[in-house]
Amino acid sequence: MYKTLIYAKEGDIGLLTLNRPEKMNALSTELTDELAQLLGQAEDDESLRILILTGSGEKAFVAGADIQELVERDAGKGRRITKDRQEIFARIENLQVPVIAAVNGYALGGGLELALACSIRICSENAQFGAPEVKLGIIPGDGGTQRLPRLIGMGRALEMILTGDFIDAREAFRIGLVNRVVPQEKLMEEAMGLAKKIAKRPPLAVRFAKEAVIRSQDNSGSGYVLESYLHALSCTTEDKREGVAAFLEKRKAEFKGK
Ligand code: COA
Repeated sequence: MYKTLIYAKEGDIGLLTLNRPEKMNALSTELTDELAQLLGQAEDDESLRILILTGSGEKAFVAGADIQELVERDAGKGRRITKDRQEIFARIENLQVPVIAAVNGYALGGGLELALACSIRICSENAQFGAPEVKLGIIPGDGGTQRLPRLIGMGRALEMILTGDFIDAREAFRIGLVNRVVPQEKLMEEAMGLAKKIAKRPPLAVRFAKEAVIRSQDNSGSGYVLESYLHALSCTTEDKREGVAAFLEKRKAEFKGK
């Protein structure tokens, strides 16, 4: 029924796999549309106790926004798309049940932002995390500038966002970006074990506890709006055109600050 997602239920545990392995599960419009649809299904599912989110293949959780689609992303699309994705990721953050991200490889850009919207992150030893948007001449737009500093602190978040450098699983664990690191072949078993443990806890207590913890992060929400508009602005620059073209042409980008 979905083209870019695989959804299965094992008892009261939902297992959602983002499934575009040939494109490292990059977030295409089709994928995020389907994700929104799937979330509607999860939100209506009274029997669901916990959701596990992972990527298909052994290389990537999600390698970010689909860079092919970025070619056409001007300011209008930049604002509209980030607003939509912020809403979808907020629905994940606010889902009535906890969501575990089982990060099985690269979690970059929108992939990192998606993992950040989940309640708990665990990863495989080969996982790598990064916010490479700046290298494409743009900035994160799917909530990363807001959630990353809250999770790992302002200084570390700024270093990741301003350099675009990746960090490996061990460093991600050290700075609190992920709760656990396990060998790749054990990742789903570990995620399932944690999910089963939480699924056995009283559902209402789990729901209320999650709600209360999330509300500890409440602010006016203005940071998200600013992020989305600045992302839109970055989509209008020559540097963005150059960064995206250089990636697709497999060459080094020449940025001019325009
Ligand atoms: N969007 C679209 N396609 C992507 C993609 C993305 N975000 N990330 C990877 N792909 C595609 C590549 O273009 C390539 O496709 P091709 O085989 O048709 O050429 C395929 O996935 C494999 O990627 P490749 O770069 O060959 O693999 P690698 O192992 O050398 O490098 C990454 C892996 C993830 C480090 C590298 O692909 C990368 O830097 N991706 C972009 C990450 C990014 O900037 N994301 C943020 C976007 S805002």
